[in-house]
Amino acid sequence: MKKKILILSGGISKERAVSLDTGFQVAKELKKKYHVKLSEPDSKLSETIQKFKPHIIFNALHGQFGEDGYIQTIFESFRIPYTHSGVLASSIAMNKELSKKIFLRNKILTPKYFKYSFDKKDKDLIKFIEKKLKFPVVIKPINEGSSVDVFICQKSNILKKISLLKNYKNILIEKFIGGREIQVAIMGSKKLGAIELKPKRKFYDYKAKYSKKAKTEHIIPVDLSKKNYNKILQIAFDAHKLIGCRGVTRSDFKFYNNKFYLLEINTQPGMTKLSLVPEIAKHHGINFLDLIEWILKDATFNK
Ligand SMILES: Nc1ncnc2c1ncn2[C@@H]1O[C@H](COP(=O)(O)OP(=O)(O)O)[C@@H](O)[C@H]1O
Ligand SMILES: [Mg+2]
Repeated sequence: MKKKILILSGGISKERAVSLDTGFQVAKELKKKYHVKLSEPDSKLSETIQKFKPHIIFNALHGQFGEDGYIQTIFESFRIPYTHSGVLASSIAMNKELSKKIFLRNKILTPKYFKYSFDKKDKDLIKFIEKKLKFPVVIKPINEGSSVDVFICQKSNILKKISLLKNYKNILIEKFIGGREIQVAIMGSKKLGAIELKPKRKFYDYKAKYSKKAKTEHIIPVDLSKKNYNKILQIAFDAHKLIGCRGVTRSDFKFYNNKFYLLEINTQPGMTKLSLVPEIAKHHGINFLDLIEWILKDATFNK
C-alpha cells in the first residue's frame, strides 16, 4: 500500500502565494510514488487529519502560522511525523530578534541592529541611527519572510518607510551590509552547498526572488576560496545546530570585506521552480524527488 502524505500549503501568511507554489511542486513529484492529499491549514485541519490519517505531514507552509512553531504544535498533538523543524526551533528561527541574539552569543556575525517599537516613538531616531548604525539601514519585520516589508532606507526616506510598517508592533533596524549575497543549504548533518544571487533590482526583494522577469542571476558554484567556502558552510551548519533545526534549512548571508554576516536561517525553505535549495541540491546530484523524499524520511515528532 502506498504511504499517505498530507501536504499543507497556502495558509494565512503574507507568503501564501509562495507556499501554494511550494505545495504544488511538492505534490506533483510525490504523486509519482505516494498517495497524496494537498490541503490548506484551515479550520477543518483536524478533521482533514482525522479523515485522511496521513502517515506523514509534509509542511509546505511559509511564514506565520506555518513556519513559526504554531502549526507544529497541532502535528505534535496528533503524534504524526511532520517534515522540517519542530516547535521550538521553528519559533526561534522565525523570530529574527531572538535568533540574532543567539547568533551573537555564539560568535556568529550578524548585522548590527536594534529593535524599534512603535509604542515608544523615538523622536531622535535619525540621530540615534547616525550614531549607532549609520545610514543606509535596513528595516524589516521580526517575523516575516520572502523579503516582505523589507526596505533599504536612507536618512531622507526612513521616516516614510518606517510608517509603512506601523502595523507591526516592533521591527528591526539593521545596519546595511553591502557586498555579495550568498545562501547556504543544510540537509540534516550534511553541508549541502551554497549559491550566490545577483539581483538586477536594488536588492533581493520579493520580485527578485519570485519573478523570472526580474532576472536575478543564480551563481553556482559560488566563486569563493576553499577556505571561505568551508567557512560559510560551517557557519550555516552551526546555526542549524544551535537553533536545533531539523531537515533542510537555508541560511541567508551577506559577504562583505571578507566577512560573512548571517541575516537569518529559514526552517521552511521554498521549493518553487526558482527556489534555491532544490537548485543547490541538483548541483550536488540530488534531484527534486530525491530531495523531498529525503525530507519525508527525516520527518518525525517529539517522542
Ligand atoms: N542588513 C542587511 N544588509 C543588506 N541587505 C539586507 C540586510 N537585511 C536584509 N537584506 C536584504 O533583504 C533580503 C531579505 O532579508 P532577510 O533578512 O533575509 O529577510 P526575509 O526573511 O524576508 O528573507 C536579503 O536577502 C537581502 O537582500
Ligand atoms: Mg531571507
